[in-house]
Amino acid sequence: MRLYLKKGATFVFAMIRYALLFALLFTGTMACRNRDAVPLVDFTIDLNQPDYQDLQLFGGQKLVNNILLFRDGLGNYHAVSGYCSYDQCTLEYQVSPDYITCPCHTCRYTDDGAVTTGPATIALTKYLTTLNGTYLRVYSVQ
Ligand code: FES
Repeated sequence: MRLYLKKGATFVFAMIRYALLFALLFTGTMACRNRDAVPLVDFTIDLNQPDYQDLQLFGGQKLVNNILLFRDGLGNYHAVSGYCSYDQCTLEYQVSPDYITCPCHTCRYTDDGAVTTGPATIALTKYLTTLNGTYLRVYSVQ
């Protein structure tokens, strides 16, 4: 009888151990997937607010919620991830000629985030913008 109880307890503990291991592996996998996912973004700023007034100028730029917002030379607004895909340096927009540059290793991106000069090889995440009066909405591509 004792032998059966001992074997039963061993079996139960083994099952608990496997369940915990499975849960650990499963949640680890989910974390990796979440890390790779493009974060959902949807916010609106008022360009009349002092923090954002530079965005009314051609070539104006601002890092907001880790997104580089800028107005190109034609007056269009753009929004891309604010950090270089190579080594995460903060990006800057150059209005003339029109490109995004990384000051760390001088890679360049188009105003839509495509890489034109390495060492970066991965495009920036692009977000959509809609201007309604002085309210600029920035949101994820669905
Ligand atoms: S971190 Fe951007 S090019 Fe080096």
